[in-house]
Amino acid sequence: MASLQKNNILDNMVTSIIMLDQQMNVCYNNLAAEQLFKLSAKRMNGSQLSSLYHHLSSSKTLFEQVIATKQGFTDNLATLICLDRRSVTVDLSVTPLAQETSDNQQSEGVLLLEIRQVDQQQRISAEMQQITQQQLAKDLVKGLAHEIKNPLGGLRGAAQLLHRRLDDESKEYTQMIMEQADRLNNLVERLLGPNKHHQHAKHNIHQVLEKIVQLVSIDLPPHIIIKRDYDPSIPDITIDPEQIQQALLNIIQNAIQAVANRGEISIITRIANQMTINGKRHRLALIITIVDNGPGISDDLRQTLFYPMVTGRAEGTGLGLSIAQTLIGQHQGRIDFESSAGHTEFNITIPVIND
Ligand SMILES: Nc1ncnc2c1ncn2[C@@H]1O[C@H](COP(=O)(O)OP(=O)(O)OP(=O)(O)O)[C@@H](O)[C@H]1O
Ligand SMILES: [Mg+2]
Repeated sequence: MASLQKNNILDNMVTSIIMLDQQMNVCYNNLAAEQLFKLSAKRMNGSQLSSLYHHLSSSKTLFEQVIATKQGFTDNLATLICLDRRSVTVDLSVTPLAQETSDNQQSEGVLLLEIRQVDQQQRISAEMQQITQQQLAKDLVKGLAHEIKNPLGGLRGAAQLLHRRLDDESKEYTQMIMEQADRLNNLVERLLGPNKHHQHAKHNIHQVLEKIVQLVSIDLPPHIIIKRDYDPSIPDITIDPEQIQQALLNIIQNAIQAVANRGEISIITRIANQMTINGKRHRLALIITIVDNGPGISDDLRQTLFYPMVTGRAEGTGLGLSIAQTLIGQHQGRIDFESSAGHTEFNITIPVIND
């Protein structure tokens, strides 16, 4: 088989494949391995195996024994903690490779590692269940908002008519009714969520991100730094830029509020192969990561974070993330988060669909 075709097969596999040389340095890895460790090919190549992760429950001596005894091993349900502190459960197989003395270029790999993420399937079904529940909550809130909207319009109209007939002193009260009705109407509009008129076209995601940075920079506290780490090779992607902007703005605003007056927010873009999003597999996906070094998401909010009206802020309406999720969902994408004190990241994954 031509080596190009072989690479194509290896890079389309879900299982991570890593080949190690005698010194336990990486001499080959496929794309799935880069995604698992969230490291680039350049970073992985030539690196010591142990420098790719923070912790692995299978000890290093087990690997060394494979080289010495030429007997492979399998470790099911091993725990891998990556450098970014993600903990994943994996099935790990280590196989000694036969030395090909006739072909020097091929002979450097002595160990073959196959790493399969086992919690992925569990995660997908939990994810699907959560989406259904969130949808129910959203429908409920939307239904309620709809019921409020019409009588509220009538109320405001009546107050306006009355306003014209009253003397100046009493006008104060009708003015108050109208102001409060307008405030409630704004909330109802937000509860009803984004309208569904998409304007999908090919756009450069970095232009959309730069616009958001410009917007938030207007009243950004001076000790908050926004860092960008963009992958310039990302192709234009079919999106509704206004919707994506709104979704990302909601997440970035939360990050700004979380760090309060001092902190760092990073915006990272990457491209990933073979991503499963909402139970559907996509060949190519864009991942936008927003990281902040604030205090983290409080435990009592985590389970219901994306539900409408869930807030941890006194002045919050709890709609930002719910709206963001609807908008990203309309792009067949997903938002997930990981959070601990000092590091909160939201990952927005959107499939790159070639039409
Ligand atoms: N980066 C973050 N760090 C810490 N907590 C966060 C972060 N992002 C969101 N949260 C928590 O999640 C809650 C819900 O966020 P969401 O954007 O949905 O609503 P909100 O910010 O409270 O109100 P709104 O966005 O409607 O003004 C927030 O109140 C906050 O407690
Ligand atoms: Mg918010």
